[in-house]
Amino acid sequence: MAMACSGHMPVEAAKPQPRTHFLACDSPSNSRKIFASSLHFLGKDPAPCRRFHASHIKNAPFARRSKLAVSRSDSIRDYSLELVAMAKPDPLKIMLSGAPASGKGTQCELITKKYGLVHIAAGDLLRAEVAAGSENGKRAKEYMEKGQLVPDEIVVMMVKERLLQSDSLENGWLLDGYPRSLSQATALQEFGLQADLFILLEVPEEILVERVVGRRLDPVTGRIYHLKYSPPETEEIAARLTRRFDDTEEKVKLRLRTHHQNVEAVLSMYKDITIKVNGDAPKENVFAQIDNALSKLLEQGKATSGSLAA
Ligand code: AP5
Repeated sequence: MAMACSGHMPVEAAKPQPRTHFLACDSPSNSRKIFASSLHFLGKDPAPCRRFHASHIKNAPFARRSKLAVSRSDSIRDYSLELVAMAKPDPLKIMLSGAPASGKGTQCELITKKYGLVHIAAGDLLRAEVAAGSENGKRAKEYMEKGQLVPDEIVVMMVKERLLQSDSLENGWLLDGYPRSLSQATALQEFGLQADLFILLEVPEEILVERVVGRRLDPVTGRIYHLKYSPPETEEIAARLTRRFDDTEEKVKLRLRTHHQNVEAVLSMYKDITIKVNGDAPKENVFAQIDNALSKLLEQGKATSGSLAA
């Protein structure tokens, strides 16, 4: 929603005017950053304030939390209407990165369960295209078979479109396995899509191969298992588990090479927001590290929006 920006406005008794700290922006990805606090309308007639509320605030993304209040200002012996629009904190926007089988998908399951973010996995989007037999899927499979990056013209728009869907904008997103190259990171920046945190999972290479070879997927629930580290809970689940076409020792080595060729360039784009997490630990312990970072981020977000709305 586009709104004009204004700071403190002069108050005229005859013609009521809003006086406020009022920040606004019109980019869809930043729409949550619209804050309004303590809008004071001075005058005998409450109608202008109500009109302002109806036209500017009622349908704004934070309007659900706005409230219209009437108070009396003794100093100027007039009525002042106060409109307090509480700013909703920005939803989290997180990137999770790491080598093949470092545990990205596993941690995403835990993060989305607790934080309700929309999980967007570049690999899953591509596998869906492969399964659908689309032209993009056929092309993507050639690269995936070789453990190489699928060309940007397929991946970039696919991810961008998913990030801009209403559930991602509303609930925040968790981007898994994207960006994997400098050009993908630059494309996101050009679309105005900024993350709050870039998490890099670190796992020694010799462990990664064992994780890939033992990985199994449940086609019914989408859950990730490992024959040794995270075995299926029942015989019924065990019987229906599937294996990814690129989960072989030979293919994971190719994927690792691609990862090493690109990871430093990607990291260089996110130096200021990167945390490195030790992924060579039980999945609950890995999650505890991530959970700690995300809770802090949320607290900071609440503090910021709270102070603006105060
Ligand atoms: P993608 O599907 O993203 O594969 P990947 O990066 O190789 O990562 P994985 O999915 O294999 O592993 P993960 O880190 O999610 O680990 P998981 O949690 O499953 O990409 C596939 C292909 O698509 C790429 O090669 C490329 O061709 C293409 N592609 C994808 N994104 C692209 C992009 N942006 N641009 C271009 N092309 C792209 O865990 C693995 C196993 O370990 C599981 O069995 C799990 O149970 C177990 N495990 C997890 N955590 C632990 C733990 N803490 N302790 C013990 N075991 C654990």
